[in-house]
Amino acid sequence: MAILKIARMGHPVLNRVADPVEDPTAPEIRTLLQDMLDTMLDAPGIGLAAPQVYVPLRVVIFHVPRERNDAVEGPAAVPEGLNVLINPKIEPLSDEKEEDWEGCLSVPGMTGRVPRYTRIRYTAVDHEDNRIDRVAEGFHARVVQHECDHLDGMLYPRRMTDLSSFGFNEEIRRALGPDAGDDEAEAAE
Ligand code: NI
Repeated sequence: MAILKIARMGHPVLNRVADPVEDPTAPEIRTLLQDMLDTMLDAPGIGLAAPQVYVPLRVVIFHVPRERNDAVEGPAAVPEGLNVLINPKIEPLSDEKEEDWEGCLSVPGMTGRVPRYTRIRYTAVDHEDNRIDRVAEGFHARVVQHECDHLDGMLYPRRMTDLSSFGFNEEIRRALGPDAGDDEAEAAE
């Protein structure tokens, strides 16, 4: 078990385009995934991308607790357990976007409202080289977009269209109430 240091906004590793993984089944990828999981659970967060632990590879993980899920089945439901996406690709299925609060372990203590596509298709492989091909909606789609953005050097504040909602979680909550802001520090939780 290894809990890794998390890179914070301003570190160049968060601004670069990450490299594709050549062999998703390689032992070093398995070790990386285990360390990312330990780090994410310790933080705690619901998602983590490899560049956030200083590894510029196209790998993300996410795990959404049942109570945070928009639905129990269908595209809005995040598949249970740990989701591993290696070399993911996202395609929006409509132009429609929706704003909601996000946070990020690399931007600690802060939150803001971020527009995201409401319906996407994403493809990837996992660490056993299984092909993943899913349609996602709502929070599920938001988490995937947030995490995959990390692979292209994009942090959520740069996706915001109105920076007036960007601020410290504590202050946003104080001003707008407990439903405002982000409560788990990664991807709109
Ligand atoms: Ni993040």
